[in-house]
Amino acid sequence: MTTNPLNCLMFENLQPAPPDSILGLTEAFLKDPRPEKINLSVGVYQDARGKTPTLESVKEAERRLLASDVGKSYLPISGLAEYAAGVQGLLFGDSHEIVISGRASTAQTPGGTAAVRAAADTIYRLHPTAKVWISQPTWPNHPSIFSAAGLKVEIYPYFDAEKNGLALDAMLKTLSKAPPGSVVLLHGGCHNPTGVDPTPEQWRKIADVIFAHHLFPLVDFAYQGFGDGIHEDTVGINAICRPGHEAMICSSFSKNFGLYAERVGALTVVAADRASAEASMSHVKTCIRSNYSNPPAHGARIVATILSDSNLRAQWEQEVAAMRDRINGMRRTFVETMRKVGSTRDWSFIEQQRGMFSFSGLTPVQVDQLRSEYAIYIVGNGRINVAGMTEQNLTPLCKAIAAVTE
Ligand code: LMR
Repeated sequence: MTTNPLNCLMFENLQPAPPDSILGLTEAFLKDPRPEKINLSVGVYQDARGKTPTLESVKEAERRLLASDVGKSYLPISGLAEYAAGVQGLLFGDSHEIVISGRASTAQTPGGTAAVRAAADTIYRLHPTAKVWISQPTWPNHPSIFSAAGLKVEIYPYFDAEKNGLALDAMLKTLSKAPPGSVVLLHGGCHNPTGVDPTPEQWRKIADVIFAHHLFPLVDFAYQGFGDGIHEDTVGINAICRPGHEAMICSSFSKNFGLYAERVGALTVVAADRASAEASMSHVKTCIRSNYSNPPAHGARIVATILSDSNLRAQWEQEVAAMRDRINGMRRTFVETMRKVGSTRDWSFIEQQRGMFSFSGLTPVQVDQLRSEYAIYIVGNGRINVAGMTEQNLTPLCKAIAAVTE
């Protein structure tokens, strides 16, 4: 065999990397030949027929875009200005002090993941020794993104497994000991994976601790509208974005616009004043340029078209409400069906959780058993995508869960 002259072949004897703990499951699901298989792993909404629909408001926006022939030239590094305005309107409302004063600046990003990565790269660029505190548990890609950006990751308690609720005291105790200048990653709503969110009063306490201890809030906001409503779900953002204080917010429109494959997200920097917001955005843009250069256009044009037209926007809000209502309905039906199939456990906590996910309490062994014996795919930590439950798959799902848990 010929070897390379430096004797350092890049790929020789390489062991494969482990599959992604969420997206890897869908790869395995697609290869599974069993016809009864059920995929409740990745966070993708499905309608009552088990299909991931394209929203009617999105189809209409696409028709308008096609007719107006907007072209395919590059967007600026920070993306479309009208999209950025739409994002800030969704986060704060158009007449909010943050919007009027210009102390927020928004970059369009390819999905919420790139928003988190752009935030991480910017934090590393400005404060390379800052530690990032993430909830235990959190979305598995969070620690991967911050580590890939060169940042050190620490954890704060979040979920109280006994109460199936928020471990607020433990969370605040840990955060109050974080060194000043630390970054605290918060989920803006519909916590992934637990579905457990702070109440408005708990949000206020979290914000108090963050600001009293000079910590920096970074909010991942991927499910706006899936909790209690598009506006209602900004309660956490509003608690965090106090006058004169800084924050970064990562938005994703994969779920609430159903634009998963278009990769539509945004990073919004909230600074003390307009000049600081503009300066910080210049650093965000530098990070973006050396990463993906500039964002894709189509999905952001769809979102901007919908948000700037009152009829389309009203139609979209109804469509978000319908998705939210279906998920909450499935939560109730799941709890009822568990009872009907004879489970003696109390599953009522599933009804209290919010958003796409339920943290079921299933152990890794039970998760493996569901997959090997029943072709049911859920994430290894016991996270179930409630938005993938349908009237058709609920009874076999509940029977299988009852069988592995009783
Ligand atoms: C999820 O948590 O399932 C989604 O956010 C999709 C992803 O990229 O992991």
